[in-house]
Amino acid sequence: MRRYEKRFSDLAGLYLDEQAFRARWRDAGDPLAYSVEDFRVDAPGSLVVGTTVLEPGVVGEEYAMTRGHIHVMRSATEIYYCVSGHGVLVMEDLGGESSVLELSPDCVGYVPGGWIHRSVNVGTDPLVVLFVYEANAGQDYGIVEAACGLSKLVVVNGDGWMLVPNPRYVPRTVPR
Ligand SMILES: [Fe+2]
Repeated sequence: MRRYEKRFSDLAGLYLDEQAFRARWRDAGDPLAYSVEDFRVDAPGSLVVGTTVLEPGVVGEEYAMTRGHIHVMRSATEIYYCVSGHGVLVMEDLGGESSVLELSPDCVGYVPGGWIHRSVNVGTDPLVVLFVYEANAGQDYGIVEAACGLSKLVVVNGDGWMLVPNPRYVPRTVPR
């Protein structure tokens, strides 16, 4: 079993409102943002299974989120199963098209090959998601950083959430 944590100090540049991010980081003493535990077997055809626990909260107008990635092996797919909490699975293809799935307990999400994906916690409790993907899929986080995030942000809307355009987004050049 492997475990790693992401604290606010690991997530510089993730949120649009840098001032709010720095204030939360400082005031809460570099709080835990999310933790991942997974189990993998180094053998051909094996699967990785694990859980992500994403802490709740808001930074500026944005709900707490994971960094997001695409699989290095672009054809690799992934299954998400929401164990507890209330979240949004945000997916984006290389052309910037977005697709979202609201996550509640027992909800299953499917990430097609070639789609960037990120979890967002829009609830008040930790969002716990179980994931399964091919062991040789690999994760590419740089594709999100290079575009200054995803094309859409998940922000507060009254007691709920909504998607808004990310003003920092730099569209990717998609090879034809
Ligand atoms: Fe993934």
